Amino acid sequence: MGKVISIANQKGGVGKTTTAINLAAALSEAGEKILLIDFDPQGNATEGFGVEQDDSKYTVYNAMVGDCPLEEVIIEGIMENLDLVPADMDLAATEAEFVGVDKKNYVLRNITKPFVDKYEYIIIDCPPSLGTITVNALTASDLVMIPIQCEYYALEGLKQILETIEIVKSNLNPDLKLDGILFTMYDGRNRLSQEVVKTVKSNFDGYIYNTLIPRNVRLAEAPSHGVPITIYESSSTGADSYRRLAAEFIKNNL
Ligand SMILES: Nc1ncnc2c1ncn2[C@@H]1O[C@H](COP(=O)(O)OP(=O)(O)OP(=O)(O)O)[C@@H](O)[C@H]1O
Ligand SMILES: [Mg+2]
Repeated sequence: MGKVISIANQKGGVGKTTTAINLAAALSEAGEKILLIDFDPQGNATEGFGVEQDDSKYTVYNAMVGDCPLEEVIIEGIMENLDLVPADMDLAATEAEFVGVDKKNYVLRNITKPFVDKYEYIIIDCPPSLGTITVNALTASDLVMIPIQCEYYALEGLKQILETIEIVKSNLNPDLKLDGILFTMYDGRNRLSQEVVKTVKSNFDGYIYNTLIPRNVRLAEAPSHGVPITIYESSSTGADSYRRLAAEFIKNNL
């Protein structure tokens, strides 16, 4: 059985998409078969793989509302061992359209279920909110990874996402597990970065990945070239850190 993992944090710009793209790429490079689901109306993970937004093409939204099966939306072989489900602005409409819909929080779970056996990992890139979209992602997942930026307000955001995980566990998906908290954009020369890591470690001992993702300009540049860091600059510290995260993630989930 494959595992489904959400990359989630309602705080914007903390490195969710960068992590979803580059973890997916590093895992597939290591030989794991991966499905990456872009589940954010911003479509950043879609763009990050150089897929043009095109109104005539179906996206995850169409599979969510039953226009077509998920299979028709999957772009196979975006890289070796890596398939992609694209998203665009349309997905934003589900927040309103699903109000009052029976089992609205189980829609993603139901449409991904037939694919769980076809992949080692299904990775879901969540939007910066805790609405219906993120709740659907958490309900469909076995694991959650929470990227946090090493800055002062990181802890506040963390409390909210952890509460949401507890609510989803109690009401919708008892098997959901926090896999870990990931520090992103870490700068070892910055005292604040060091302080944030220390504080979070003392509060969430046992739930922090050993791998830290450093601030690395190559990671920020890669999406505009439509490729993950492992291809854009394979020997960069950014690529190296996501390969280490992939190895740690695999080991955690053996
Ligand atoms: N380790 C890093 N080093 C340098 N820049 C980074 C790093 N991680 C992310 N960035 C940059 O920070 C910005 C935000 O990252 P990203 O888009 O991954 O965050 P996000 O949490 O997905 O944002 P959103 O909440 O809008 O979906 C982007 O411009 C990205 O290129
Ligand atoms: Mg994002």
